[in-house]
Amino acid sequence: MDLLHEVKKTSVSEYLQEQNQKSLLRFLTCGSVDDGKSTLIGRLLYDSKLLLEDQLATLERDSKKHSSDDADIDFSLLVDGLEAEREQGITIDVAYRFFTTEARKFIVADTPGHEQYTRNMATGASSADLAVILVDARKGILQQTRRHSFIASLLGVRHVVLAVNKIDLVHYSEERFSEILSDYVSFSSGFDFTSFQAIPISAKCGDNVAVISERTSWYNGPTLIEHLESIDVEIDRQAGPFRMPVQWVNRPNLDFRGFAGTIASGTIMPGHEVLVAKSGKTSKISRIVTMDGDLDFASTGDAVTITLADEIDASRGDVFADPASRPEVADQFAAHLIWMSEDTMLPGRPYLLKIGRKTVTATITDIKHKVDVNTFQYIAAKGLELNEIAFCSLSLSEPVAFDPYEINRQTGSFILIDRFSNQTIGAGMVWFALRRSSNIHWQALDVNKQSRAGLMGQKPVVLWFTGLSGSGKSTIANIVENRLHGMGRKTMLLDGDNIRHGLNRDLGFTDADRVENIRRVAEVSKLFTEAGLITLVSFISPFNAERKMARDMFEDSEFVEIFVDTPIDECRQRDPKGLYAKADAGALKNFTGVDAPYEAPVNPEIHLRGDGSADQHADHILNYLEGSLYSLSNIERQ
Ligand code: ADX
Repeated sequence: MDLLHEVKKTSVSEYLQEQNQKSLLRFLTCGSVDDGKSTLIGRLLYDSKLLLEDQLATLERDSKKHSSDDADIDFSLLVDGLEAEREQGITIDVAYRFFTTEARKFIVADTPGHEQYTRNMATGASSADLAVILVDARKGILQQTRRHSFIASLLGVRHVVLAVNKIDLVHYSEERFSEILSDYVSFSSGFDFTSFQAIPISAKCGDNVAVISERTSWYNGPTLIEHLESIDVEIDRQAGPFRMPVQWVNRPNLDFRGFAGTIASGTIMPGHEVLVAKSGKTSKISRIVTMDGDLDFASTGDAVTITLADEIDASRGDVFADPASRPEVADQFAAHLIWMSEDTMLPGRPYLLKIGRKTVTATITDIKHKVDVNTFQYIAAKGLELNEIAFCSLSLSEPVAFDPYEINRQTGSFILIDRFSNQTIGAGMVWFALRRSSNIHWQALDVNKQSRAGLMGQKPVVLWFTGLSGSGKSTIANIVENRLHGMGRKTMLLDGDNIRHGLNRDLGFTDADRVENIRRVAEVSKLFTEAGLITLVSFISPFNAERKMARDMFEDSEFVEIFVDTPIDECRQRDPKGLYAKADAGALKNFTGVDAPYEAPVNPEIHLRGDGSADQHADHILNYLEGSLYSLSNIERQ
């Protein structure tokens, strides 16, 4: 290709340098193949005398192969824009293409248009400055046009191009174009777009893509490429007060302590005052250090290491900010959430939440409403399925610093990660802190767990029995409690059937209700542990996630998971309450082991297999307690 030839004439490093000077526009194309999306992307690449990505790869190889001068060329000069996703950790597939014109370089996120690809579109939109929304001039505004516009707007894309394609097939009709335009404006007027440009194009014939078409003489606006080249997104990027999440603390020796990270927004200079958002501690910037020497000035997108005038405490995940304009710090907030996993999202289930450089545990405490992405209607929901979007309240294990997403897309967005598979399962945009999080404080109590337990001469522990219905959990728990009681131990037994008559009588057996059932009983057993008691919990507790949640609420040796591993056929045969018979006959839905799942514990402290009697199992548990944790008859007073 000509261009590549030209590239070879100049030095590769000069060429890359030149590219580096150009501003970058990241945009997203929305529409389906039928609308001509692939043709449009092909046309853009072709008409812009582009550099195709595989050629870039050749270029990279060449730059490594050739002169030693060029050996260390950082190819990321061209594609650095993609770092954002990688850093954020989003792992949803999106095809990115790179191309460049005289005036600008571009990264196009090309995402499929169907509803089942909402998560991909959202991922592409999350870092895009502009969305090209494609419409087939013959078909006009479709449901998917509305969906794409809504997702783009929700994800903070502030510039929109309505590309009315196949204008040749409606005979370059101005009337048809105006009709589509007014349809679009009427439904999108509530969206918060900063700029909007409608362009009549024919991706196939080239009209108004790179060259103004004579066949649409009634159109006075720019070509698509002109518009993409000239739209000003720098203001959006540079705006906002200083924010820098700390990626790591660089301490090569005692004389140097630097905080490394990428500036999420704003500008800094040595001498500027900065604040650690969470602790409120302030200091002044001494130096802005980079690989190429110190800087006098750094701004959004720069990866830097800052040193401070004072020794203040900050670690990975903390956010440095402008003290005159502080981010919010809270452990509860309301956010829009896009669910990206095949597994249902369940309120109350713990997930990992990553915001900036900080990872904490989080649960969705409440789904305010789901949003129908096609009609924008609000719908009540108990859980979220793949690609669904909802407005939710979240509760975090500790406070984090953030800004509302509409103010700062970097510091206002987060992802949710599955604690077992490590997959990205959701992406969220923070709306506001829930004030109650900062208004409820822990009350320091003089009499505490140690003193209460000490008075009883015992160490509190939770014996968590899990297993199928009819496996023998309650029978064994009952024997263990009896024996402990006989030894003078203070105990409490929480049994699924009983608790479901009182505290949890509002809950049924859907996955969502079981999550809430276990969350509540874990909280209650925590209270009993605080009271100094030995607590026996006998619940099916079918999910790994909630058993882990329960475990995480206690100190290491305080939680003993007991898997009552009776084979389902045996449970079915016993069927003490006749429930298996009902479930097998289809008269009882969501019955564990029949048509609802049971996830067996992977590493329980005690694994009781089906071959022993209830008494033998109880002996086993008491031996375990005696042997590995306590001497029950001779506990030191604490
Ligand atoms: S859990 O799954 O949410 O932990 P839990 O232990 O509270 O269940 O309650 C289980 C008890 O409820 C069973 O022992 C059984 O007696 C009764 N039950 C009624 N319907 C169901 C069902 N669909 N699945 C499981 N148990 C059920």
